[in-house]
Amino acid sequence: MSTPLIVGNWKMNGLGEAVTEIAAMAGAGRANLWVAPPFTLIDRAVIVAAGAVTIGGQDCHAAFSGAHTGCVSAAMLADLGAGFVIIGHSERRTDNGECDADVRAKALAARAAGLDVIVCVGETQEQRDAGAAEAIVGAQLAGSLPDAVDGLIVAYEPVWAIGTGRTPTPADVAAIHGFIRAQLLARFGLMGRGVRILYGGSVKPDNAALLLGQPHVGGALVGGASLTAASFLAIAAAAG
Ligand code: PGA
Repeated sequence: MSTPLIVGNWKMNGLGEAVTEIAAMAGAGRANLWVAPPFTLIDRAVIVAAGAVTIGGQDCHAAFSGAHTGCVSAAMLADLGAGFVIIGHSERRTDNGECDADVRAKALAARAAGLDVIVCVGETQEQRDAGAAEAIVGAQLAGSLPDAVDGLIVAYEPVWAIGTGRTPTPADVAAIHGFIRAQLLARFGLMGRGVRILYGGSVKPDNAALLLGQPHVGGALVGGASLTAASFLAIAAAAG
């Protein structure tokens, strides 16, 4: 199995001095560490990461350029030296009303700009309680994914686990990642085997090994615990 990919999502956190954390992450000399700081830090983060940590964006617009005040295009991210972009995070789906079609359009734009794209899916607590987790995630995959697997990563993030300190049981993680793999195989044929699936939602140094040890889990998407090099590197070390 390939080394787990550990991706940090800084969300709306970090002023200038925070790039020293990225410098420390880069200094650890680990492969497969990616970090998405806020747009404002990408330029500086790319410099201090010096290629040892891949820097990405947390969102992009679906258009290449145009009259979209306040937005950032995938081409702009690539121009700064970003290597990837997170698309369809539940906070954007909720706060900004992004639907699956929006997410898919952004994913296509990201691929066209040469960025790897992490497409996020995941159910709410109510949906899980209603026994609808697979139906919801299946519909999100069907509507959000681009047409080809090149540069595609899927992140499963149950909304109820994000920032809450709660996580699914290892059995539930295994079950839904197996379901996602089956959906990828159905959609892309054997090419679906190679698509990496990340788990996200309250990943910490003390639960990373268990969560990432489940079948079809190819890494983690980490929010709060990615803000310092100490906890992010501890997760990477626990993941192996
Ligand atoms: P968390 O966030 O690790 O703080 O739960 C995960 C995410 O939203 O990607």
